[in-house]
Amino acid sequence: MKIMFIGDVVGSPGRNVLKEYLPKLKGKYRPDFTVVNGENAAGGKGINEKIYHEIKEAGADVITLGNHAWDKKEIFDFIDDAKDLVRPANFPSGTPGVGYVIKKVGNKSVAVINAQGRVFMNDNDCPFRKLESIVDEVRGKASMIFIDFHAEATSEKQAVGWFLDGQVTAVVGTHTHVQTADERILPNGTAYISDAGMTGPYDGILGMDREVIINRFLTNLPARFEVAKGREQCNGVIIDVDPSSGMSKSIKRISINEDRPFFD
Ligand code: FE2
Repeated sequence: MKIMFIGDVVGSPGRNVLKEYLPKLKGKYRPDFTVVNGENAAGGKGINEKIYHEIKEAGADVITLGNHAWDKKEIFDFIDDAKDLVRPANFPSGTPGVGYVIKKVGNKSVAVINAQGRVFMNDNDCPFRKLESIVDEVRGKASMIFIDFHAEATSEKQAVGWFLDGQVTAVVGTHTHVQTADERILPNGTAYISDAGMTGPYDGILGMDREVIINRFLTNLPARFEVAKGREQCNGVIIDVDPSSGMSKSIKRISINEDRPFFD
């Protein structure tokens, strides 16, 4: 059983890359289930209904979010009807949407949970305790549990990985947009990577136009960030899961750009 994850899709370049590469990746890796982080998919911040459907049609089974979940106000019009959209589970209770979904994959089920870190980010409920209680809730209903942990600090991400090792199929980090090279199977069978990386512009800064960002660093003046143009990249992971135990056998990074072509 294979689960593919594609890291933070940034703006229209990211969506175009997704449409181009998802079919190729599916041809190469044959995933049974695909999760895409779409929190930056609309103009670099947030998601709207049209783009939610666009990413679904490109081949995502479930779309996860993060700190930019509410940046496009249209989300409030459709999130409660979007059955394959997950926002961080540790947002304050009473916020719209859901923090996890359970989906059928063949004769098995996979729970997809999204959570957000608290280090160098907005304060939310404790992700550790929230994840612990959701894992208790879904165990028995889902044989595989996939977590997109959207966080800034590698320490917090590693802590979640070790905290849940042996209890969940995978803890995959998102948010930094820079893929880390620490993918591994933890001793009790949880696949882990601190960050899957991003999908979209390759020559920007985290996907944004680099001139604007550099100028911001130089001057501290407020500036409107724009999604970068030009060359593109696609990043993610493919995880091979033992469906009987729900634990992972391998995790491999997907990293496609002009320096690392698709068929290497
Ligand atoms: Fe983020």
